[in-house]
Amino acid sequence: MASRDPSRGETAVSTLAGQGLSVEHVILDVTDDDSIIAAAKVVEEKNGHIDVLVNNAGIIVKHLNDRSRRQAWKDTFDTNVFGVAPVTDAFIPLLKKSVDPAPRAVFGSSDLGRLETKYDPQHQHFKRPVLVYRCSKTALHMLALAERSVEGGPKNAVRLAVLGKDGETGQISGDEGILP
Ligand SMILES: NC(=O)c1ccc[n+]([C@@H]2O[C@H](COP(=O)([O-])OP(=O)(O)OC[C@H]3O[C@@H](n4cnc5c(N)ncnc54)[C@H](OP(=O)(O)O)[C@@H]3O)[C@@H](O)[C@H]2O)c1
Repeated sequence: MASRDPSRGETAVSTLAGQGLSVEHVILDVTDDDSIIAAAKVVEEKNGHIDVLVNNAGIIVKHLNDRSRRQAWKDTFDTNVFGVAPVTDAFIPLLKKSVDPAPRAVFGSSDLGRLETKYDPQHQHFKRPVLVYRCSKTALHMLALAERSVEGGPKNAVRLAVLGKDGETGQISGDEGILP
């Protein structure tokens, strides 16, 4: 389990260990290429491979505060899109070393990024604001599909993470199943 903040990461590991789960922490800031490469190296040295990569880190800028609008776009895309591509690139070699019959990368996206939600004025998300976030998740969909993998919320991410070799791929899905 990766996090950019060492103490928050260790706290999370302790909490999970208290629930009987075996979790190790690695430092990873998805906006920092050196951090990404270092994290992949640590995992490779400790474990040699991974079976599943879950790209979960994501931000939403709800208030600009002292940020310019351009900076809000940059910050959002830096984490939600630009960070995902190099993280996936860095960890794919470790996925390729997996002996699992279905190693996979999962991309944590959002319904708000699906174009369908803006085609239909009756759609529950049609009028939802957070345009910058929405655009970043739409871009993530193209990236994820180009990686031939899938996305969805936490429950769906777990389902996808343990799919067998006959499981779906190259699809966008949510808790309700495969989506247009
Ligand atoms: N919550 C929802 O309703 C919802 C719905 C659909 C999709 N999603 C997506 O699900 C994912 C998780 O969302 P969440 O609701 O659990 O949000 P969250 O509680 O804010 O968690 C996001 C996590 O991403 C981490 N993060 C942010 N920037 C990072 C960076 N540069 N490097 C490494 N880690 C970074 C944060 O770490 P820190 O603790 O250091 O800030 C935080 O732990 C996101 O991709 C989000 O877009 C959420």
